[in-house]
Amino acid sequence: MNNFIFENSTKVFFGKGCVKEYLSCLSSKYGERVLLAYGGGSIKKNGIYEEVMNILEKAGKTVIEFSGIMANPTYAKVQEGARIARKNYADWILGIGGGSVMDCCKAVSLAAVSQKDIWNEYWAKPGIIDFEPLPLGVIVTVAGTGSECNGGAVITNEALKIKTGRDYPKCNPKFALMDPEYTYTVPVKQMVSGSFDILSHIMETYFSEPNENNVSDDISEALMKNVIQNLRAAVKDPEDYTARSNLMWDAAMAENRIIKLGKKCDFECHQMEHQLGAFTDCNHGCGLAVLHPVYYRHIYKYGLSKFARFAKNVWGIQPDGKSEEQLAEAGVNALADFIKEIGLPSSFHELGLPEDINLKEIADSCNLVPGSYKKMSHEEILEIFRECM
Ligand code: NZQ
Ligand code: ZN
Repeated sequence: MNNFIFENSTKVFFGKGCVKEYLSCLSSKYGERVLLAYGGGSIKKNGIYEEVMNILEKAGKTVIEFSGIMANPTYAKVQEGARIARKNYADWILGIGGGSVMDCCKAVSLAAVSQKDIWNEYWAKPGIIDFEPLPLGVIVTVAGTGSECNGGAVITNEALKIKTGRDYPKCNPKFALMDPEYTYTVPVKQMVSGSFDILSHIMETYFSEPNENNVSDDISEALMKNVIQNLRAAVKDPEDYTARSNLMWDAAMAENRIIKLGKKCDFECHQMEHQLGAFTDCNHGCGLAVLHPVYYRHIYKYGLSKFARFAKNVWGIQPDGKSEEQLAEAGVNALADFIKEIGLPSSFHELGLPEDINLKEIADSCNLVPGSYKKMSHEEILEIFRECM
């Protein structure tokens, strides 16, 4: 295994009723004035907003609202949140939602305090955070990104057409409240997309060196099987608590840094999807679903034994009579079949991208990372994009 340092400062409160049980007590720690941040309004329809407001009002908090955080949050939205936080002297932030809300809140927690242009300082390049961001607590309403348990925030700069993520430990939420019942109302399309994002995070970690015996790969196989099994169950019954709770914890386990320890990590597929998102605003998990099998058909020959292991241990494919290459290919095919089975898109056309999209411009804007079994070039990314069409 490679060397590592591990810390995760987020305190997790998991399970049915956790918001009712713990929010009041938690809110007493961070000050009187809370910036309540959320998305497009799902929390007003499913009762989460009312439940949280009652708790905060009873606790005597002054609530300042910051709403309308969009999927793929923009830098402009971050600046808006920071202005509201500053103008109203917010002491802390409570974000309620999925990755988009949580990521936007992390960036707001910096922008509300820093005098600098936080895009230039902390997203255009890795920066050093030498101050305390506003404390952030989150209430997770959809399983997927795992943003609740890390300092990562993916922000889109619309003017520059760049969507990029940075992970700053100082941006880890102070606490994460995770009630699986809060995810019952997530539309099926978003549930499968979020779950595929979980699978993608695990695969992007698993398909990277080292390949010899390591604890991360063993945990990753268990997690992948758990996501597949519980997503199938949640598609059948969206109110299956066991399935929803497993998916919620899988999401956190995939991104709480644990499985990344000692691994190089790939995440080239994420780089491609992020730029696709920057240009088209496509759904993150759906974009990943289109890209993954095509990308893996480009790289599996360079990581044959790991792809063969994936086929056997994750998809249960019998190796008898198959060459290592045939087994590896069967694993990628099983992944592609699963994507179809759960109703995710398999092409850019199904993703809703326009026929005349400038794929070259998007391919040329993608970051090239060193962790893949095969180092990508912009030309090969363009080939992948064309095959996705
Ligand atoms: O906005 P509202 O009305 O709340 O509706 C949301 C949104 O439309 C809806 N939703 C959430 N909880 C719901 C619900 N609808 C009904 N009932 C509920 N309980 O779901 C929709 C999608 O939400 P969003 O937060 O955008 O989804 P997700 O969690 O997939 O986040 C995606 C963003 O996170 C970034 C992605 O790139 C994208 O910008 N990522 C963040 C990462 C991180 N910080 O570690 C890693 C990821 O790889 C990813 O890049
Ligand atoms: Zn992701």
